[in-house]
Amino acid sequence: MKTFIEIAAEIARESGARISEFARQRIGFELKGAYDLVTEADRASEALIVERLRQHFPTHAVLAEEGGGNDGSSEYRWYVDPLDGTTNFAHGFPVYNVTLGLERAGELIAGVIYDPTRDEMFQAELGGGAFLNGERIHVTKAARVEDSLSATGFPSRKRHQNINVHFYYQLAMLSHGVRRAGAAAIDLAYVACGRLDFFWEFGLNPWDMAAGALLVREAGGTVTDMHGAPLNLRGQHVLADNTLLHAEVLELFAEIFAGKQRVPMPELPVR
Ligand code: IPD
Ligand code: CA
Ligand code: CA
Repeated sequence: MKTFIEIAAEIARESGARISEFARQRIGFELKGAYDLVTEADRASEALIVERLRQHFPTHAVLAEEGGGNDGSSEYRWYVDPLDGTTNFAHGFPVYNVTLGLERAGELIAGVIYDPTRDEMFQAELGGGAFLNGERIHVTKAARVEDSLSATGFPSRKRHQNINVHFYYQLAMLSHGVRRAGAAAIDLAYVACGRLDFFWEFGLNPWDMAAGALLVREAGGTVTDMHGAPLNLRGQHVLADNTLLHAEVLELFAEIFAGKQRVPMPELPVR
């Protein structure tokens, strides 16, 4: 019998192939909100994933971004982002993925993130380690923010309420750099495999974080909210790091929340 993770990986690979077909056709997009894009690929990928999950696990609950799941009560709940990085996808910027995370009785037990543009399959099971295309992966050993490369994101919804530019600026000034590639699950996967030292974001949804949070933990990292409290998948904000940097990043975040700027923002020139 196949395991949860094997089935999730099979489904993610199949929907990744479907998304790649759409990518070759350069399809258009629609708007869900002012700047919130959705495409036929998001819907087709979700329909495929939900159908496959229903075939394999008819009693499991499924919370899927485009609303096609069945988020009823069950011991098992899948969190599905059928296309994470839709804005990238719609513009032909090749950073997007399919991600499925599985929770049992409120605890994350399995997760996959599949990047069809690089054919990279990230997967993790609770207590079983994290893997990229079958090879074990680990977080980095960077021990100081000033030696780090990190990532963040800016959600499409409620942009004007997002305070992240303050965090972005400080971290960009105080480290090797901050990337904003536009797909939260890829950011988390890259922390797990050591391409990034940490990642944070405000305003995420459970399907963006579920698989990636497990992956980072299984790769030796730490995942909490932005104040260091245990991650709440419905709590919208996340800090995922290599564990060694956790205390220093939280200290910096606490300063920024308190309105302190280690590096003042430059004034605009007055003409
Ligand atoms: C978005 C991406 C982006 C992040 C947003 C997410 P979507 O997911 O992960 O990087 O900054 O917060 O909503 O809408 O493309 O699935
Ligand atoms: Ca997403
Ligand atoms: Ca999505």
